Amino acid sequence: MPPSTTVASEIDRSLSVAMRDGSRAEHAAAEHSSFMAELLGGRVNAQGYVAYLLRLRTVYGTLESVVRAHRNDPLVAAVYDPALERLAAIDADLEHWAPGGPRQVDSPATRDYCARLADANWGGAVVAHHYTRYLGDLSGGRAIGRILERSFHLAGAGLAFYEFSMRAKPYKDAYRSRLDGLGLDADAIDRVVDEVKVAFALNQAVFDELTANLADYR
Ligand code: HEM
Repeated sequence: MPPSTTVASEIDRSLSVAMRDGSRAEHAAAEHSSFMAELLGGRVNAQGYVAYLLRLRTVYGTLESVVRAHRNDPLVAAVYDPALERLAAIDADLEHWAPGGPRQVDSPATRDYCARLADANWGGAVVAHHYTRYLGDLSGGRAIGRILERSFHLAGAGLAFYEFSMRAKPYKDAYRSRLDGLGLDADAIDRVVDEVKVAFALNQAVFDELTANLADYR
């Protein structure tokens, strides 16, 4: 291999690029999940959106306590930022969509997701889960919020989940460069990417569960 190619492939192996490229197929599958398509097409009722929010509430409750518990790990410290946390926003949204309603949900997919989060005992695995949710929320999530606003005829209410205090583009760029600054070796990068794929699969299972119940959400 000529030296210039070696340099290029080393650059390509930056952690942030490996995470994005390694989850491209999983991302496309998530984008095309029937529940998402129906939700974004305005064909899911408030009960369906609440079912989704309740699952997110459980996942973020666990994710955010796991991230906080590992925040002094050097890998997790690179991404830890309480300003990203979504639990309070989800609770505010649930107060809009289901005032005084239950906040627990019986969801095997959510239980599996939380069990995996709770099992993460390496900082790189925690980072993988952090990336999968928060970088997604800062990316496509905002467009999803705008679509929901239109399809549910909302004037900003009930969509706190999609509102962040930071500007997405510079934040994501800085986040990626902090990931790349960790200097992980190829083996560790592979382990992180594998966990990103697991995180996407767990999200997909949550969507599949919601898709299976779509008849109740019309
Ligand atoms: C209809 C559903 C979805 C849409 C329309 C969507 C859209 C997008 C878009 C447009 C970007 C690129 C933003 C950019 O270039 O900066 C993005 C990035 C991302 N999305 Fe999604 N997304 C969806 C679902 C999901 C789901 C379910 C997850 C995971 C739970 C997810 C995780 C991510 C991540 C981690 C990134 C960052 C990729 C990177 O730059 O490293 N997305 N999404």
